[in-house]
Amino acid sequence: MDSRRLAEFPQTQGIYWLYRNPQAHFLQWKARAELLLAGESQRLSQIEAEIAQGEAAASKYTLERLELLRKGQVFNFQAYREILAPLLSPQGLDVSSQGLSQVDWASGLAETLPSHQTLSSYQDNLFRDWAWNNGENEAALELIKRLWPDSLRLKLNTSTGPTEGEQAFHLTVLGSGAGRLAVDLHRHFRPQLSLLVDINPFLHLVAQRLIQGESVELYEFPHPPLSHDQAAVLHRCENPYGPQRDIHLLFADVSNLPFQRKSLDLLITPWLIDIVPEDFRAFARRLNRYLKPGGAWLNFGPLGFDRRMLSQRLCFAEVQEALTEAGFVVEIEFQERQSYLQSPHSSHGRVETLSCFRAKKVKEAKEPKRFEYLPSWLTHLDQPIPASAALAELALINKVHFEVTAIIDGQKSFRQISNLMVQSYGMTQAQADETLFAILFKIHESSLRSPGRSS
Ligand SMILES: C[S@@+](CC[C@H](N)C(=O)[O-])C[C@H]1O[C@@H](n2cnc3c(N)ncnc32)[C@H](O)[C@@H]1O
Repeated sequence: MDSRRLAEFPQTQGIYWLYRNPQAHFLQWKARAELLLAGESQRLSQIEAEIAQGEAAASKYTLERLELLRKGQVFNFQAYREILAPLLSPQGLDVSSQGLSQVDWASGLAETLPSHQTLSSYQDNLFRDWAWNNGENEAALELIKRLWPDSLRLKLNTSTGPTEGEQAFHLTVLGSGAGRLAVDLHRHFRPQLSLLVDINPFLHLVAQRLIQGESVELYEFPHPPLSHDQAAVLHRCENPYGPQRDIHLLFADVSNLPFQRKSLDLLITPWLIDIVPEDFRAFARRLNRYLKPGGAWLNFGPLGFDRRMLSQRLCFAEVQEALTEAGFVVEIEFQERQSYLQSPHSSHGRVETLSCFRAKKVKEAKEPKRFEYLPSWLTHLDQPIPASAALAELALINKVHFEVTAIIDGQKSFRQISNLMVQSYGMTQAQADETLFAILFKIHESSLRSPGRSS
């Protein structure tokens, strides 16, 4: 991407939105920011209601825990509002030529991102990167050091950049999250510049501040906390190195990167490839197209491809095969177990086997067609919607669910409703009992669970 073209794109706090339809992305995240704040305020109301009910007062510890949760919730609400302020105001998008009013809604909808990518999806990554100090950042840096190509190892005692015969290079980290690994790599390997690509404005806006040397305070709500007095823990996220130069953040989708073909020296994908919705075989060819000949792709992360198609849930050998087919030579590969997001304040903690590789581009791959997350019948609004078997099944389930829950009026019993179902749907008594039980059981269970954490 050359700098003249870059200026055509809108930016927020100096971070460019490099999308075909940047305004649509901005508005989408604005809606997600409003949703986040609404959820936070709902959670606060729940805590306050429980405190007011007085049941908590029966236990000193419970009351202390709820008071702490309330304090953290109030604090985070303000902190989110402040961090996300550029998204919440229409002026947050610095558009030079076009205004937000010019968004074409139909094409805007076509840019819809996976709904599970919420603003708070990776909040623990922020604490891991800049607050916990639990050794995971150092472990990640060590992994990349083992994968790093010799050709891009500069003599580290030079303060002026590469010496004669050394190759100046750019580093690109895809799905850079809260940014710590990219900063550690930037400091250790001294690229001319580092590009951090992510879609998540919360992470990018916070990472931007940290990279500029500011700190950010936020409460963690460990799940489950180690003790009642760690139910909410205030963290000061700080960048131990102070302000960093030549690190640039970009909003962009890794499946539709805004770079010129054959322009990148080195790509890093930490904890990313299995969450990208595109089939890995196509994604590998796509990344090939952006790398220069001889360019390298370093990866580490689990292979938890969550796909309906079994053929797309690749294991490590299949990943390596896909890399070869996509024009790479796999120069290094190994698997290693590492802890992941182990909060010092939680009694839960994950250990994952990471699949690590260094792949060198040796051939041009055939470029896959533009990746669209949505099917054409959701983006071209005049196209017929296919009547699949899955849809028919869902329609029946929803119909029964809707009609049955509508009959519940606070008076009728299970038996009365199930008799009505026998009459209305021609079900046997056993079928009606079973269906009604399943619906009510689900409603009951969902009332017991916490509204859910997304990370
Ligand atoms: C599991 S997190 C890993 C974050 C970081 N690499 C780390 O190791 O902590 C995945 C990251 O990829 C980002 N991401 C997900 N889908 C993306 C996409 N299509 N394009 C760019 N970034 C994406 C998420 O916002 C998140 O920051």
